[in-house]
Amino acid sequence: AERVFSGVQPTGNLHLGNYLGAIKRFVALQETHDCLYCVVDLHAITVWQDPEELKRHTREVTAAFIACGIDPKAHIVFNQSQVSGHAELAWIFNCVARMGWLSRMTQFKEKAGKDRENVSLGLFAYPSLMAADILLYRATHVPVGEDQKQHLELTRDIAQKFNVDFAASIAANGLGDAYFPLTEPLIAGPATRVMSLRDGSKKMSKSDPSDFSRINLTDDADAIAGKVRKAKTDPEPLPSEEAGLKARPEADNLVGIYAALVDGSRQSVLDQFGGGQFSTFKSALVDLAVAKLGPIGAEMKRLMDDPGAIDAILIDGADRARVIADRTIADVKDIVGMVRRG
Ligand code: TYM
Repeated sequence: AERVFSGVQPTGNLHLGNYLGAIKRFVALQETHDCLYCVVDLHAITVWQDPEELKRHTREVTAAFIACGIDPKAHIVFNQSQVSGHAELAWIFNCVARMGWLSRMTQFKEKAGKDRENVSLGLFAYPSLMAADILLYRATHVPVGEDQKQHLELTRDIAQKFNVDFAASIAANGLGDAYFPLTEPLIAGPATRVMSLRDGSKKMSKSDPSDFSRINLTDDADAIAGKVRKAKTDPEPLPSEEAGLKARPEADNLVGIYAALVDGSRQSVLDQFGGGQFSTFKSALVDLAVAKLGPIGAEMKRLMDDPGAIDAILIDGADRARVIADRTIADVKDIVGMVRRG
């Protein structure tokens, strides 16, 4: 069976990139796959999080999942720390993954910057926990934005090394010839890397100090309009052919956003707006973004008014995730050679 897993960190400022690159695609995959969508609080604390804010942001990501159309009854929505198997399997993977592999992760290098001595050990081990998230459910497909590609390659390397290192034991335990699948990343569509509205060379990010760099899922119509109107562009009119976007990162980004919001292609957007003024296109983009995001933001706010109901969804999801996770942990203990209660 094909199983989808993906995660979002509860670090605040959920934005249009998270929506178009990830959550919108999570929603679509519900039709064809069994899906688990996880609020990865253990990942969030690899950098400092205020405890009260962490709780609020965990509920906010959950609210966003549901407001965007994820069905927590038909699929599984939960927060990572409620299923202890994530941390358990991550430890095993810390002993499979090599220091060299993790040292090459560009996200670690970016986040650690020059101050390598003073980042948490958890930040270094982050991708190993991410591999555990996915492989705990033996997920076959993982929808993510472009920035997670390298982490998913590492997940395959860990699965592969585990399968090879323990091949004899996997067979001896009657678990076939490869225990973990080599998970496929699903990185597709016109918005796998949404860029900052202020700088077409930087990705849109939760941590950018400028709120004008991103459209937040909770922004109201006025905020969206203001941000799109102020978005950086160049003086040329829009091209008629996609190739004309090549050296124009800001124009390319806005056209990509429009395309993703209407489930179209960049070319279909240029067929409509090519040759015209940017201001005309921006007005249309404001209307479109407000029409698509307005209801999501409003529903998120409504859901956030009842934290108890959100927590109940997470508890129910974790209970159902644990059933799958416990089976994997038992198998992995048998494979690695750990004595356990039968
Ligand atoms: P996070 O919380 O940074 O982002 C959540 C999702 O949003 C995507 N994304 C973007 N897509 C397009 N354009 C952007 N500007 C943009 N910014 C973010 C991310 O690619 C991601 O899909 N490590 C992950 C969380 C994670 C995870 C996992 C994902 C933990 N365990 C297991 C998949 C499977 C992260 O930090 O995502």
